[in-house]
Amino acid sequence: MTPLIEGLSAPAHVVVTGASSGIGLALVTQLLAHSQVAQVHAIARRAEHSAALQALRNEHGDRLLCCAMDITDAHSRQLGVARITHRSAQLHCLIHAAGVLHAPDIRPEKSINQLNEPALVQLLQVNAIAPILLTQALLPAFRQAPAGVIAAISARVGSISDNALGGWYSYRASKAAQNQLFRTLSIEVRRSHPNLRVVSLHPGTVDTPLAAPFKANVAADRLFTPALSATHLLRVIAGLHNEDSGQFFAWDGQAIPW
Ligand SMILES: NC(=O)c1ccc[n+]([C@@H]2O[C@H](COP(=O)([O-])OP(=O)(O)OC[C@H]3O[C@@H](n4cnc5c(N)ncnc54)[C@H](OP(=O)(O)O)[C@@H]3O)[C@@H](O)[C@H]2O)c1
Repeated sequence: MTPLIEGLSAPAHVVVTGASSGIGLALVTQLLAHSQVAQVHAIARRAEHSAALQALRNEHGDRLLCCAMDITDAHSRQLGVARITHRSAQLHCLIHAAGVLHAPDIRPEKSINQLNEPALVQLLQVNAIAPILLTQALLPAFRQAPAGVIAAISARVGSISDNALGGWYSYRASKAAQNQLFRTLSIEVRRSHPNLRVVSLHPGTVDTPLAAPFKANVAADRLFTPALSATHLLRVIAGLHNEDSGQFFAWDGQAIPW
């Protein structure tokens, strides 16, 4: 089996956010099927009550630990990080798949007239602020890793230079902010964690609850299942080298301009 991360031969301890649904759940499923993975910490707000995660736990036992965490809540993050690092003093991979595009009271904006402060703040919090603060709290657990990956699942629409269509102000801005935060981290950790690769990844357009309201406009062959997207993403992660740190890659390994 291909190593989970290039240069890592030890059993791998992995954290995945957004683990209750879509891409995050598919990543957890495939990570548990990988023989090198010793431990997966699956984060979602009600992780312990997720039927899908419970089914995986029945199959894989203690290799899967469900961690109830609202990533936007500092106290919840603190409790969750303590539980994760108690079990896995050493981490090798952190994948941020939690994210929000719409909610009952949030719709992606078509025009500046639809922009509203609570929605903009909420998307920035979930998609950009919470992931980097969770990373800050977990980073000490990466220090001794012979090789490691921190991957923030971003979105191509977060690319500023690729933005030809406009619209989706809050989501685009939150993903651009996420990209900048993780790019900045990649530069800082070059010395302190020379074998830690920090990347942003675009998963493709994926048939999940997040994409559901918009999938009618997507050609069937361009709409991935969560499982296919997860397979692509894990392949990109496995192929990363130290010099790839700080880059933004699509599901097929192609670099995306910022
Ligand atoms: N689907 C696509 O086409 C597509 C395209 C480009 C990028 N992406 C990105 O891919 C990532 C995964 O999206 P998806 O399509 O798999 O979405 P999804 O199926 O809607 O899953 C979103 C996940 O985020 C978690 N989440 C949301 N708010 C949270 C919070 N405050 N605390 C903890 N967890 C929270 C949800 O968990 P709970 O609600 O259970 O807590 C859920 O597990 C997102 O970052 C998204 O922006 C998706």
